[in-house]
Amino acid sequence: MSKEMKTIGVLTSGGDAPGMNAAVRAVVRTALSLGCKVKGIQKGYAGLLNEEIFDLDALSVCDSLKRGVTFLYTARCAEFRTVEGQKKGAEICRKHGIDGIVVIGGDGSFNGAAKLAKYGINTIGVPGTIDLDIACTDYTIGFDTAVNTAMDAIDKVRDTSTSHERCSIIEVMGRNAGYIALWCGIANGAEDILLPEKFDYNEQQIIDHIIRSRKVGKTHHIIVNAEGIGHSAGMARRIEAATGIETRATILGHLQRGGSPTAKDRVYASIMGTYAVKALLEGKSNRVVAHKNGEFTDFDIQEALQMQKGLDDFQLYVSKVLTI
Ligand code: ADP
Ligand code: F6P
Repeated sequence: MSKEMKTIGVLTSGGDAPGMNAAVRAVVRTALSLGCKVKGIQKGYAGLLNEEIFDLDALSVCDSLKRGVTFLYTARCAEFRTVEGQKKGAEICRKHGIDGIVVIGGDGSFNGAAKLAKYGINTIGVPGTIDLDIACTDYTIGFDTAVNTAMDAIDKVRDTSTSHERCSIIEVMGRNAGYIALWCGIANGAEDILLPEKFDYNEQQIIDHIIRSRKVGKTHHIIVNAEGIGHSAGMARRIEAATGIETRATILGHLQRGGSPTAKDRVYASIMGTYAVKALLEGKSNRVVAHKNGEFTDFDIQEALQMQKGLDDFQLYVSKVLTI
């Protein structure tokens, strides 16, 4: 164990994601088992600046694994975007004896973590977001649960849509990223999938597709629409007017961020939490844990933030070819 790393802090930041608790639990128990103390910081960087900091022991994380909330709470914090806020955060860490921090969140949270590292606090990021939009990693905590939640909901919408021979537009989360939409589109057998990265559709094409499908005997038409494209209600009205087929829009919204995490999210989040603590104890800082090409690894935060991520071309092809 590195001599300097006596106390590790842990926080969750940005949008919550099912499985964050599993990562926190892993941080706490791994650190304790390796002789460190652990401090929980509530409400992300906002709680750090307000000194909402408390000791965590092995019992504090009992029963957290299966819960969808982040029991550390999460928040967004404008003050931490300022140099003064970042210096104050590092100073508060020193005041509480925190030598290193594990930050569980998305790209924004990693930007914050890099600033803490700059001002002398060792930091390791763990990717937590249902959007899967972190370029350095093929896995982010919460995506698997969110996709399964959305898939179940879309199956149900599809049932009623079929009974009424309707067209249904289901809007899933992803302000800038279409991964949830793409995965649901494939998993639910959607006839059309609208993705922010591929904003190349035109509504007339969708209308023509609906009319063609109806002519060959399809009794429903499912459109999975990503939040980044949005406007599902207006689209439904226009499609109904153009096709004469009853069309309904359903926005799944924040239910996708809740619920008990899947086995994959519990296990991968646990591995990443443990990995983060071991990285800190090896003297690493300013790194983000990733799962890349089938292996757990870590990247420099700045390098990770500069990486670009696109939708997988073969997955896109699959999503299209299976709708004929
Ligand atoms: P996510 O981590 O899910 O991407 P946000 O983008 O909302 O979520 O970022 C979470 C928090 O991280 C912000 O509220 C802010 O406190 C901090 N943060 C984001 N960007 C920066 C930055 N450039 N510098 C410092 N802190 C940042
Ligand atoms: O968690 C990611 C995400 O769900 C995005 O898809 C969405 O745009 C955003 O968070 C909304 O978050 P909030 O409602 O908390 O601002």
